[in-house]
Amino acid sequence: MPITTCVFDAYGTLFDVAAAARMAAALPENSEISENWAKLANDWRLKQLQYSWLRAITDAHTDFWQVTQDGLDWAMEANGVSGARLRAELLELYWNLAAYPEVAKMLSALKAAGLQTAILSNGSPTMLDGAVSSAGIGQQLDAILSVETVGIFKPDRRIYDLVGTHFNCTAAEVLFVSSNGWDAAAASGYGFVTVWVNRGGEPQDRLPWAPQHELNDLTKIPALAGI
Ligand code: LAC
Repeated sequence: MPITTCVFDAYGTLFDVAAAARMAAALPENSEISENWAKLANDWRLKQLQYSWLRAITDAHTDFWQVTQDGLDWAMEANGVSGARLRAELLELYWNLAAYPEVAKMLSALKAAGLQTAILSNGSPTMLDGAVSSAGIGQQLDAILSVETVGIFKPDRRIYDLVGTHFNCTAAEVLFVSSNGWDAAAASGYGFVTVWVNRGGEPQDRLPWAPQHELNDLTKIPALAGI
């Protein structure tokens, strides 16, 4: 069945989540993270995701902005850095993340070919609006679907259901793209055609399902969508 709809995870897939710590570390006033910003960014991301899964399985939902702040607080403490100013700066940078360089051209190619495009993300609607507008990609997206309409995080199946409900399409028509191996794998189990964008060359997650495709970045997405 031809692909009609391309759906993207947001954080780490369209938006470079490590950029917040990397950009903060480049400022002279933040010398305390100039050496360890990459570990801080990694710990922040891992805790943010762990908290999302733990809140989902314990039925203790809160929005992704709270989970993002909780993950940052853990990561700052673990890396021996503190300070309300640095914390606020990192969160502000996270709110206004840049898209990866190939994103705008890739989305334009999908739209020019008549495909539907969307974000499907754990992010809260206001967070996603912030990132989409700072990256300037709003015109190339038909929908920004947030888990907040359901009140549970990915990879709960009800989140993947949002795509078919919004676009009135079958799962087999959807190319689902995520940099999170677990998200791409679970979306395969759901029935989407899936792409894992593995920029860091990570090993594949050991789960009952596997992504159908693996790429280093997003430039080949139009080809995988059949353009
Ligand atoms: C998202 C996170 C999981 O955007 O990257 O949903």
